[in-house]
Amino acid sequence: MRRALAAGLAVGTAVGLWWGAGSCGKGGAASGPRDSSVPTTEEREALFPADMGPDTIDVTAYPAPQQENYRLFVEKCSLCHTLARPINSPLVDASTWGRYVRRMHGKNQVRHGGLLLSGEEAKRVIAFLAFDSRERKIKRAEEFQSLQADLLMRFDLAVRDRYKRNAEVGRTSSQESAPYVGDR
Ligand code: HEC
Repeated sequence: MRRALAAGLAVGTAVGLWWGAGSCGKGGAASGPRDSSVPTTEEREALFPADMGPDTIDVTAYPAPQQENYRLFVEKCSLCHTLARPINSPLVDASTWGRYVRRMHGKNQVRHGGLLLSGEEAKRVIAFLAFDSRERKIKRAEEFQSLQADLLMRFDLAVRDRYKRNAEVGRTSSQESAPYVGDR
């Protein structure tokens, strides 16, 4: 089992917090509650709730070496998916991040036939992920939990929307398909 913050636990209260805070939307630049019953294209394509969140981290207050590590993380971890995926992931501790980074490394070998990171670079990315998780997800747990709750809620809406669209496409194409010629 992966160790992660219990993201969904505080949904009820956290959703309220989010609407109050109004600052946890994409890029942290939400200008008040938007009509969340209409998912954006990005949201429709999201595979993980995390994909719908901010895709940058403000590292200006982080120590210089972690700012360097952040740049490496941005370069390497955005090759196949949005950076929002790791940034808003509930994963926290270094050993869990280590497992995921190794897994991504394996995927890169399959997909691009090369190494994603040298051993040294992998250590730096893991160090960054663990440091940043402490700063944003543990020290500011309430804020992070309300973001998680918001993402789960929006993901749920987007999945429903996707389902509805697929059902509509299915209906249209079955109407347009060739007449049934089978024997049962
Ligand atoms: C070669 C392509 C590729 C690269 C490069 C890559 N990823 Fe991924 N990542 C994926 C795919 C595909 C998924 C979809 C889910 C899965 O198969 O785990 C994923 C999923 C994830 C998830 C969600 C997993 C879950 O189950 O919650 C996280 C977190 C993640 N990646 C982090 C990273 C980090 C950190 C890096 C940089 C070290 C990275 N990824 C680089 C392909 C990649």
